[in-house]
Amino acid sequence: MGFATSNPFSPTMTISLLLLALLAGAQAEKQAPFSNIPTDIWAALSTRLSGRVFEAKPFAEPCFTNATSIECASIQELYQNEKARTHQAGGYTWGQWEGCQDTGEQCLLDFAVPTDEAATASPNTCDLGSIPKHFIDVRGPADVIAAYEFSKETGIPLVVKNTGHDFKGRSSGRGSLALWVRGLLPSTRYPINARLAFQTHNLKDISYDVAFVAEGCSDAYPAVTAGAGVQFFEAYQFAEENNITLVGGSDATVGFAGGFTMGGGHGVLSPVLGLAVDRALQFKIVTPDGKYRTASACNNEDLFFALRGGGGGTFGVVLEATILAAPAAPVQVVVVTWAEKSPERTEALWTLIGENAIGWADAGWGGYSMSELALFVTQRLSKDEAAASMAPLLAHAEALKAEGVAGAMAMVMEFPSFLPFFTSFMTDAGGNAGAGKVGYSLSLTSRLVPRKSFETPKSRTRLVEALMAASGAPAPDAPLMIIQITAPTAARPADLAPGRTSVTPAWREAVYHVTSMGMWNWNATKTDIMAVYDRTSRLMDNVRHITPDAAYLNEADVYEPNHEVSFWGNHYPELATIKAKYDPDRLLDCWQCVGWNPDSERYQCYL
Ligand SMILES: Cc1cc2nc3c(=O)[nH]c(=O)nc-3n(C[C@H](O)[C@H](O)[C@H](O)COP(=O)(O)OP(=O)(O)OC[C@H]3O[C@@H](n4cnc5c(N)ncnc54)[C@H](O)[C@@H]3O)c2cc1C
Ligand SMILES: *[C@@H]1O[C@H](CO)[C@@H](O)[C@H](O)[C@H]1NC(C)=O
Ligand SMILES: *[C@@H]1O[C@H](CO)[C@@H](O)[C@H](O)[C@H]1NC(C)=O
Ligand SMILES: *[C@@H]1O[C@H](CO)[C@@H](O)[C@H](O)[C@H]1NC(C)=O
Repeated sequence: MGFATSNPFSPTMTISLLLLALLAGAQAEKQAPFSNIPTDIWAALSTRLSGRVFEAKPFAEPCFTNATSIECASIQELYQNEKARTHQAGGYTWGQWEGCQDTGEQCLLDFAVPTDEAATASPNTCDLGSIPKHFIDVRGPADVIAAYEFSKETGIPLVVKNTGHDFKGRSSGRGSLALWVRGLLPSTRYPINARLAFQTHNLKDISYDVAFVAEGCSDAYPAVTAGAGVQFFEAYQFAEENNITLVGGSDATVGFAGGFTMGGGHGVLSPVLGLAVDRALQFKIVTPDGKYRTASACNNEDLFFALRGGGGGTFGVVLEATILAAPAAPVQVVVVTWAEKSPERTEALWTLIGENAIGWADAGWGGYSMSELALFVTQRLSKDEAAASMAPLLAHAEALKAEGVAGAMAMVMEFPSFLPFFTSFMTDAGGNAGAGKVGYSLSLTSRLVPRKSFETPKSRTRLVEALMAASGAPAPDAPLMIIQITAPTAARPADLAPGRTSVTPAWREAVYHVTSMGMWNWNATKTDIMAVYDRTSRLMDNVRHITPDAAYLNEADVYEPNHEVSFWGNHYPELATIKAKYDPDRLLDCWQCVGWNPDSERYQCYL
């Protein structure tokens, strides 16, 4: 079976073709589909679901209604706060997946200055954009089954929404019905959509079993079972309370059991503890054929394989996942940073960490590097071993200090467990990731860089040159490059959950997952937006050209060329067969997901 050739164009080509069409005035006015469906079908669905169907509002709507109201002031204050956004049905992490990029219909504030009235002043209006028109507050399998039946009868597309962090717009969709698994907190802390705040939270259960046995299996593992609405700040807290370690990412408000885990899931502990998919023991899922199933290494094995890397929003709605727990252990951290930007210094840092990459990967180090930062983390070494292993990096920092480089510093630290490390480095009180605030729009692109690229002086030089070129430095509007040292380089199979995974096998060879992002604000024109996507992607071509065709699907180019191969490698044909088996009517469909229909109306807002 060959690969589907649904997106044969390079992003550059796709964008220039679209531009041509636009310039020629050939872009027909697009109608919101399904707009003339009688309201009583919604009433009927709502009755069937005990009133748990509602229309969501854009996060910034109160500021368009009355820019001087108390509600608006609260939104302005929380506009860049991702935790507050995940508490709203209509809240998404990135502006472009709330707005409709193709038509410019949106309801966005000025990201940089949320109190800037230019964004809300006439003629700007508040439009739902890509936000689904209706949401179901999902409580259990019957809700999901009702939604499948409804979609099959009406043709209204479904979207699965958890926290809304997605970089590729897979959790929103104009005119769709969203299955909101994230649920609601039992508080009124965020006084938006007040009528919803009366409802209690759902799918937030979390429990620990020291001897969990997956359905159909016989071996027992220490494991955490979490509802689909659990977020990482809750999972990490729970792990701390239970003296265990759970693998997660850099962000406190991403979902623990949603798109993160189904797409791969990497973090600083992954070099030793594997990807999230490597630790999954069981999923409870409602498949689009209307069945509530349990998938494990010993039951519905094909589905289990697909859920371990095939991607969210594709094979069904997961209501619960069980993930292998590791013992709690001290966390060693080494950080080197300085303040002044200088491409030469960045290049020297990336050369140094590249020279040591294989040794450090094998020793179990994970971490991140940016232009003026290297942060390394491991649980496999003691504090003394950690300092010895990182001696070349620490010597580099001493040299920077001796040179008098502003803000140069080095730290070697030990934390008793993961949570205190995470709280110190990865999150602030507002629940934002280390990378900072959210609410703007961005184009992300990425590559998995294999061990081979680090093996010889020549290959390392080539890699560092490509990374520098991809970073776009020293241009002031260069995209933000992050080298994520989070591949499962030193994970021992005996320490992981059993069974196959469906992420691209390139993850197993990788040492770096390199990401870069360009951004734009509320008032960028469609031409501006296309130019940012295009530029970010083209810069990453520098790395694309010297690495195998592989990328992490959750943090990938929206217009990834040849995405079936990049995201899944040789697993794609098998995944496509599993998709067709459980979802023959393609009730679930998302952008560049397994078995997607690129011609679907649901993609009308993509450029
Ligand atoms: C600030 C930030 C930091 C990040 N850091 C990391 C990181 O360190 N490591 C990493 O691996 N990733 C990271 N990510 C990427 C993250 O894994 C993706 O954004 C992922 O899609 C989030 O999943 P979600 O379920 O929370 O979000 P959503 O946007 O709600 O959903 C994402 C996708 O999963 C589907 N989905 C969600 N829940 C379910 C469910 N219960 N059943 C079926 N389908 C479902 C949705 O339909 C959609 O396709 C980060 C993202 C952000 C914004
Ligand atoms: C907007 O809100 C402010 C503060 O509550 C109020 O004084 C004002 O009358 C409102 N304006 C409109 C047009 O409703
Ligand atoms: C926590 O777990 C570690 C590792 O298994 C163990 O050494 C330690 O004694 C445990 N602490 C408590 C308080 O149970
Ligand atoms: C967008 O708005 C900001 C702030 O209101 C302004 O400084 C900038 O010039 C505007 N950009 C464009 C392209 O209109």
